[in-house]
Amino acid sequence: MMVISMGSDHAGFEQKELLKAYLEQQGYEVVDRGCYSEERVDYPDHAVPVAQDVASGRAERGVLVCGTGIGMALAADKVAGIRAANIINPEFAQLCREHNDCNVITLSGRFVEPDVNKAILDAFFATEFGGGRHEGRVRKIMEID
Ligand code: RB5
Repeated sequence: MMVISMGSDHAGFEQKELLKAYLEQQGYEVVDRGCYSEERVDYPDHAVPVAQDVASGRAERGVLVCGTGIGMALAADKVAGIRAANIINPEFAQLCREHNDCNVITLSGRFVEPDVNKAILDAFFATEFGGGRHEGRVRKIMEID
């Protein structure tokens, strides 16, 4: 089964725990890169280990949660090999796989309800990269690394 690396800051902690359980219930293996409580932390400290897990192949995908998801996406996208996007609805989750071959998804723990984040993860994990006309575009992004 697919290995997923997960991380959050304090603002995403509660939903990270909830979503981790949701994924584990489905049989995914989750590597938890913290944080481990609601104590205030800096989101890049958790985004980078998750991004490195995905870039190194230790995990196939990454899931990050902070207040908005924005800071997590900014930090994760700095790691070579990562295509992270901040997603707030299932349609964009599908499109970030189909068109952009995203390997990390970043979620909002403060502005998006858990049930919506679950539906976002369902779409993210159910959708394959479309290839074809999208392939060269994604390659051009990765050449920036
Ligand atoms: C923390 O207050 C907040 O800035 C962080 O969780 C995230 O939303 C950053 O993008």
